[in-house]
Amino acid sequence: MALTPTPLSFRSPKFNLSSFALPQMSTLRSSRFIMASTLRSGSKEVENLKKPFMPPREVHVQVTHSMPPQKIEIFKSLEAWAEENVLVHLKPVEKCWQPQDFLPEPSSDGFDEQVKELRERAKEIPDDYFVVLVGDMVTEEALPTYQTMLNTLDGVRDETGASLTSWAVWTRAWTAEENRHGDLLNKYLYLSGRVDMRQIEKTIQYLIGSGMDPRTENSPYLGFIYTSFQERATFISHGNTARLAKEHGDVKLAQICGTIASDEKRHETAYTKIVEKLFEIDPDGTVLAFADMMRKKVAMPAHLMYDACDDNLFEHYSAVAQRIGVYTAKDYADILEFLVGRWKVENLTGLSGEGRKAQDFVCGLPARIRRLEERAQGKAKQMPRVRFSWIFDREVQL
Ligand SMILES: [Fe+2]
Ligand SMILES: [Fe+2]
Repeated sequence: MALTPTPLSFRSPKFNLSSFALPQMSTLRSSRFIMASTLRSGSKEVENLKKPFMPPREVHVQVTHSMPPQKIEIFKSLEAWAEENVLVHLKPVEKCWQPQDFLPEPSSDGFDEQVKELRERAKEIPDDYFVVLVGDMVTEEALPTYQTMLNTLDGVRDETGASLTSWAVWTRAWTAEENRHGDLLNKYLYLSGRVDMRQIEKTIQYLIGSGMDPRTENSPYLGFIYTSFQERATFISHGNTARLAKEHGDVKLAQICGTIASDEKRHETAYTKIVEKLFEIDPDGTVLAFADMMRKKVAMPAHLMYDACDDNLFEHYSAVAQRIGVYTAKDYADILEFLVGRWKVENLTGLSGEGRKAQDFVCGLPARIRRLEERAQGKAKQMPRVRFSWIFDREVQL
């Protein structure tokens, strides 16, 4: 997971994907409200009581343990299934790539020369690309939050920190795989000399302190739908940073991003398989959860990012990601459409009345999002340029 920016078109102030995605620029809140995609009635502002650790922000009324307790048994009964069907998507450590495989070797005589070459290549890459790569790296670096999030889920959490259930083994090994992503991007960006590492490090510290609010309510139904979406989102966005790096002439950076993308793809396969199994066992409960998650919008994992300079940092980073084509509103609709197809939601039968409504809602949603996106594109206005502390306060076009 560890995911990526958000699906939004920020190009038109009138663009309103309010039911689907993040708010557009015109609805960006004052400095007291930096949390995206979550503004709705029933939300409340959290006073900035813990100021040294967290930026001011808004969270929802927090719903917990919404899954009926008897459904926990479903996950316990899937232990053996998960061992055979989910754990197989992990890679043995000895077969995994490591960040060092892609970085200058500090013990070698050629280290200085390798760093020089890396920096020469990085010089050809524009600032807007670096803003997005930094945002992606910051997102990956908030990994403690994502492991915490998985361990909020009833029936699958790691109860001891070293539990031997398949679910817990997965979560720890998944985290260990993901840990290489932020590590590699962080070291690459450090060596590139193009970014303000201290500002970036502060952003990471704030973000981990802030956590995230994915609204998964301790339910593995919601949780695994969320992670399915997010792993695919990161697969797409890292794939796009790879493509753009190549276009900018940096094949090695392209390889870095592409390698991370392939991990995300493997993780997507595992999480979508879990949800596929839930659809088989409990189609009604799963389609209701899918619709619920999509109504709430899939908040991006780093939606609470903050650098003490820009109160709308996440929105600005997302807008640049959208403009340069790393992660767009179209991607959001495409992911949703992919998942609807992957889980054969249109073919579900025997649903309750509520289940059928949920089915209709999710099946019709990709087209609705696309229509809104097209309308927004038609009305797109010139966006401002904004300073990013991550690149020494240089301005970038949103
Ligand atoms: Fe991931
Ligand atoms: Fe990742």
